[in-house]
Amino acid sequence: MSNGHYIFEGHDTVDLAQKYGTPLYVVSQDKIARSVNTIRAAFATHGITDYRINYAGKAFLNIAMCKIADKLDLDLDVVSGGELYTALAAGFDPKRITFHGSNKSWQEMKEALGAGVGTITIDSITEIDILNEAAKQLGIMQKVHLRLSPGVEASTHEYVQTGRVDSKFGIPISMSTRAARRVIDCSNLNLQGLHCHIGSQIYSPKPFEIAANAMIETVYNIKEMGVELSELNLGGGFGINYLQDEPGIDVDTTIGTMASVINDQVSQLGIKMPKIIVEPGRYIIGPAGITLYTVGIVKEIPFIRKYVSVDGGMTDNPRPALYGAVHNAALANKYDMEKNDLVTISGKCCETDTLIKDILLPAVELGDIVVVFNTGAYNYAMSSNYNRICRPSVVLLSGDKDELIVKRDTYEQIARNDVVASWL
Ligand code: LLP
Repeated sequence: MSNGHYIFEGHDTVDLAQKYGTPLYVVSQDKIARSVNTIRAAFATHGITDYRINYAGKAFLNIAMCKIADKLDLDLDVVSGGELYTALAAGFDPKRITFHGSNKSWQEMKEALGAGVGTITIDSITEIDILNEAAKQLGIMQKVHLRLSPGVEASTHEYVQTGRVDSKFGIPISMSTRAARRVIDCSNLNLQGLHCHIGSQIYSPKPFEIAANAMIETVYNIKEMGVELSELNLGGGFGINYLQDEPGIDVDTTIGTMASVINDQVSQLGIKMPKIIVEPGRYIIGPAGITLYTVGIVKEIPFIRKYVSVDGGMTDNPRPALYGAVHNAALANKYDMEKNDLVTISGKCCETDTLIKDILLPAVELGDIVVVFNTGAYNYAMSSNYNRICRPSVVLLSGDKDELIVKRDTYEQIARNDVVASWL
């Protein structure tokens, strides 16, 4: 803290708000690196040396982020032609890209194959033949993984539980050998691994342990069919601490738990130790981001509620509206003042876009700067132009440097795709 302002990674956030305007996303490259190091340290502690971290680009992706991922020696998970395009535009090595998606279009398959992505993760039985045909047409032998749903119910929001059997994602694990046989019989697909992703924002190591166990068992079953798989991707999903009093996941324990299941099973079943891949998005980028807003209208309804409206809202953070997600906030310009004002922070959209319900802040006034914490993941990535609102810019911090990595939308951009039908 200095002069009562909130300091984020050595930067005065009130100065950042003044310099770049609000609303503003601020992302710390140093914090990203620290989270990655925590994951690396966990692998090292638990003796797994052959591993890769696939950064899940869906959490936050742009050209600068691809360059950061590259600098940190992360591989990249993309799920659409647009994400792939961004990675390639950043000069990211296609061999280190995994292409995911539960409903890849023919066009996207061709783009991924043509770009030479390292791995394509097949999400359904139907996709197998279509992808093989696309690879055949391009004369490519493509390395693939099969995404399985291991039937794990992780305790997280229903919308982000993705490892259940009743899910649009993945091939039910009970059909895994059938799917593997089908891939093995394909002329242009080379099955080298399995993938699962059991959900997002998970706190407990338990579901990861159950999933790792089920997946390694499947590696064994496929070996019995004559194919020894060399890679096992256990997905992302490590939960973070959105409120100070809420525990985030203990990555060391989680990776330790997965490592011990894998080590035990590998020796019991007599299979080769596969390369272990994890695919976190939120854990890497979530805590590295904050959002700064300026307070506008403050509306006090006597004995009922005090609404504090900020200059952003569900357009830059749809998570509260979509999942009832909770975030914590503070007043950046009154960070050291006593919190005695119970308020609800609202956005500026033309509906009740509550960002944070009932939070204690110092006495709030027009012009104050609100900082919302842990907004690095799935905020900018899920932002929209609802109400034709311009999406904020993103500023990157590294050491004592600060620079824009995404510019604020302009009104011209908002209308740039509008065309007028001939009869108008
Ligand atoms: N891998 C796959 C195949 C995924 O589907 C996901 C997330 C990840 C990795 C990364 O998961 P993470 O480590 O970030 O939890 N919009 C929601 C989250 C949706 C997650 C979708 N898939 C939210 O704001 O909470």
